[in-house]
Amino acid sequence: MSSAPGRFIRQIRLVPGFDDGRYPFDLPAVRHLARSGGLGLPAGATFLVGENGAGKSTLIEGVAVAAGFNPEGGSRNFRFATRATKSALGDHLVLTRGVERPRTDFFLRAESYYNVASEIERLDAAGGRPVMPAYGGVSPHERSHGESFLDLVTHRFGPAGLYLLDEPEAALSVQSCLALLARMHELVDQGSQFLIATHSPVLLALPGATILEITGEGTMEQVDFDRALPVRLTRDFLRAPGRFLKHLLDTG
Ligand SMILES: Nc1ncnc2c1ncn2[C@@H]1O[C@H](COP(=O)(O)OP(=O)(O)O)[C@@H](O)[C@H]1O
Ligand SMILES: [Mg+2]
Repeated sequence: MSSAPGRFIRQIRLVPGFDDGRYPFDLPAVRHLARSGGLGLPAGATFLVGENGAGKSTLIEGVAVAAGFNPEGGSRNFRFATRATKSALGDHLVLTRGVERPRTDFFLRAESYYNVASEIERLDAAGGRPVMPAYGGVSPHERSHGESFLDLVTHRFGPAGLYLLDEPEAALSVQSCLALLARMHELVDQGSQFLIATHSPVLLALPGATILEITGEGTMEQVDFDRALPVRLTRDFLRAPGRFLKHLLDTG
């Protein structure tokens, strides 16, 4: 893991004193962020892990909005909105930025990638400079979800970029997760910064990455690869699926 501060985002802080007792301010992870005085982001890749509902997506979307991204995803000049589900967190987050600006950027949430793909098609059809070539030349709607996502990271992502990704593994086979891992390794080497929510033990193996685990109490603890929850659980399961299932299904 890196001890140098993030190149583009160094710290995330919550403006103190704002808690109306409702989502997203009632989430343990958000309360912890407020109490702790801030979360430092190191250089390279930072993973957020934690159970479903721990607040990973809320945090990543909050950072994205505070950084000027469209809440539903895309690059910072995407401005479409299909649903009014943006949480208020981003309006109350303060980012400490590095001195440099990213050369490129992208916010991707697996849940709304379809809408990002539609926006890419719309921009391309609207005239002006074609955007499709930057995404591999084929409309994301004409590729499988996994293929179009790999097109995105292969062609559209580049050196010295800032990338916020929410469960990028959602569309990917294990083989494709390995391809993504290799591409992230290359982009980090070229000075990019990533913040990624994931459940994928494969992605977590990215060398040099920092893994932050959100606990049930909302604290964020740095863990190494072998201690990270998705890795431990997957490993336990694969070691003895039969025994695991016997416990789980209580089949005696
Ligand atoms: N728009 C919303 N309104 C109210 N509660 C929400 C909303 N979105 C998420 N939540 C709640 O916040 C919690 C954290 O959600 P989320 O950030 O999506 O978790 P994760 O990504 O870690 O699975 C969940 O328990 C969920 O019920
Ligand atoms: Mg989520």
